[in-house]
Amino acid sequence: MTAQIIDGNALAKQIRAEVAGRTEALKARGIQPRLAIVLVGEDPASQVYVKHKAADSEQTGLLATLERYPATMTEDELLTRIRALNAEPSVHGILVQLPLPRHMDSHKVIETIAPAKDVDGFHIASAGALMVGQPGFWPCTPYGCLKMLDAIGYELKGKHAVVIGRSNIVGKPMALMLLGRDATVTITHSRTTDLKALTLQADVVVAAVGKRNVLTADMVKPGAVVIDVGMNRNEEGKLCGDVDFEAVKQVAGWITPVPGGVGPMTRAMLLVNTIEAAERVAGRPA
Ligand code: GUN
Repeated sequence: MTAQIIDGNALAKQIRAEVAGRTEALKARGIQPRLAIVLVGEDPASQVYVKHKAADSEQTGLLATLERYPATMTEDELLTRIRALNAEPSVHGILVQLPLPRHMDSHKVIETIAPAKDVDGFHIASAGALMVGQPGFWPCTPYGCLKMLDAIGYELKGKHAVVIGRSNIVGKPMALMLLGRDATVTITHSRTTDLKALTLQADVVVAAVGKRNVLTADMVKPGAVVIDVGMNRNEEGKLCGDVDFEAVKQVAGWITPVPGGVGPMTRAMLLVNTIEAAERVAGRPA
């Protein structure tokens, strides 16, 4: 049996259409939802990412303003700019693209963003809200993974989910989201002694390490759901994930491809968080 593919492109398209509808509804009330994207420096990958984020926003009717600053910008100058965006009522979401130049403390920068505008979900207030189950903004990548599980109608309650990777952006928030759905969650990482023994027990595996072939076919329980967050290049320079896709596909029940899986969902969830931020400010329609 080969796994069913969870099509991130198709699902992201559907989510963008939903966001476009919500945007229209706000515009009808005279509110233009707006995302401020801030890029410091000339990192080539970041330049591409922010362009995509701005284009996605515009496509769904959100106003995206992209601010580019030279790598010589001081941390104080950036913090001042963020405070101005915090105070600007027409801005609903603020995204500071990472990585920042080395002379900046990215924690300090992120903590300066107003939590109500933290559409990346990276602020400590957002992380804390997720942890205690209060409203906040969820980081886009794990949020997108959860949406993929929802899209296939997967019931997480009582299931064993194994998360590979413990980053603040993916692994840890993913584990909390799965826990919030009553899954039994195991977080594994580079110091885990017997990863295979754990993944073989998993009904759901989320691989978020950033290394090819972290999950191979012999490590997967037949029928399991496999979500691949990885973004790597193989020897030929082709984009690939953390999962040995071709082989794991023969064992898993469901699997996400790379490209066309989690990537487009991450981008879509940024739009969801941004429209959500604008709706929270606008309040319920009268
Ligand atoms: N750099 C790579 N991914 C991201 C992301 O999701 N948000 C921000 N702000 N920077 C990134």
